Amino acid sequence: MAELTLHAVRGMNDILPPESASWQRLESLFRDILRVYGVGEVRTPILEQSILFARAIGDITDIVQKEMYTFQDRNGVSLTLRPEGTAGVARAMIEHGLLRGQSPRVYYLGPMFRHERPQKGRYRQFHQLGVEFFGNGGAATDAELIALSAHLLAAAGVPAQLQLNSLGTPAARASYREQLLAYLRPQRDSLCADCQSRMERNPLRVLDCKMAGCQAIAQDAPKLLDHLDPESAEHFALVQRLLDDLGIPYQINPRLVRGLDYYHRTVFEWVAEGLGSQATVLAGGRYDGLVEQLGGGFVPAVGFALGMERLLTLTPVQPSPRPELFLGALDEPALGAVLQTCQNLRRQGVSVVMAGPGSVKQLLKAAQRSAARLQALLGERELHDANVLLKEQAGNGQWQGSWTLLEQGLRSLGVDFERGHPHTTAPSDAVGKLS
Ligand code: HAM
Repeated sequence: MAELTLHAVRGMNDILPPESASWQRLESLFRDILRVYGVGEVRTPILEQSILFARAIGDITDIVQKEMYTFQDRNGVSLTLRPEGTAGVARAMIEHGLLRGQSPRVYYLGPMFRHERPQKGRYRQFHQLGVEFFGNGGAATDAELIALSAHLLAAAGVPAQLQLNSLGTPAARASYREQLLAYLRPQRDSLCADCQSRMERNPLRVLDCKMAGCQAIAQDAPKLLDHLDPESAEHFALVQRLLDDLGIPYQINPRLVRGLDYYHRTVFEWVAEGLGSQATVLAGGRYDGLVEQLGGGFVPAVGFALGMERLLTLTPVQPSPRPELFLGALDEPALGAVLQTCQNLRRQGVSVVMAGPGSVKQLLKAAQRSAARLQALLGERELHDANVLLKEQAGNGQWQGSWTLLEQGLRSLGVDFERGHPHTTAPSDAVGKLS
């Protein structure tokens, strides 16, 4: 019988060391930046009622029609793995009464799920860092949020270009939709199959189709920007002026329409070079109608989400940090002392790996594989004879002395105890003390 080979689900990736260290580095960099903007973290469930996404993202969007992982649970309730974070966050804000007289600013970081055709930069499970500002409809909030997005990308060291558009109000969009349809209908046969099938349902999507034939048609289509209601036009002009004041360059892209229905007025995307067809690293916009649509009263809001996988392919891989010390136990009686010493040093912030019991040859091989800066081997004899040899693996530095004085030896070879973790105290002060 052929053996079953287990593998990860198509389009879903394992994130392993050393790559995971790059994720952690970026995540902690982003958390530090979000703190200075007064943005707090929310963690919502990965599963939501399916109805939430149909209502928030829109029935006729590709995401809801073709890409959601939806299933019935054991009680027959239709649930969906979140394809994005905004809907769940808005639901949580309403449910917990956080929008009453308050203007919360929140972020989330976690996996999203879309059943798209996997390719480089497009996965079925991917991770977003999302930021949502609730309760403020002014253009200054759009500009502040865009400035935050620029800050995050600059801190990650990823150059990208900001594209900007305004979709106006739903009413302005509805009247523009008719004009666009009147322009597209006679050219229907020249559109790609996807656009032909979605043209009547969602003609705006034709505008940002990547197929050359559709792009040529979109080029001469009437522009939504020419049909904005006066308030939206004013709002958009102010967003641009404030970005100019902030020195953030942008390009107006009248064909930027976004794939989710909840947007009003400002929409934006940051497009990076070197990502092929999946070049948008961060995207978002204003969604003043969403909270009301979900039953929360009128609360304007604006937000964005950054694609972590796409960003990470553009940031240099960090070398994984090397341990400071390798400790090898040469026999069983030494195991306890080696383990205790490891724990004692780790509580002081020194990174230590251990192996054993094993022969000198085996342990030296393991020490080399660990890439630790320093190594020491310890058996029952060394425990008693005070002749532990601590050595640099790549250099000539060494120290010899009593096991109980190992900490002194480590200091003499440059181990930094100052980075210790003062909050991780020993379970008992006596345990594992070296000196
Ligand atoms: P979105 O444009 O669907 O917007 O996704 C935002 C970003 O997530 C994309 O620009 C991309 O970097 C990343 N992304 C999306 N789909 C995939 C995928 N299949 N594989 C890899 N990366 C992907 C939203 O999700 C909105 N919720 C953003 C928002 C927040 N608007 C307002 N607030």
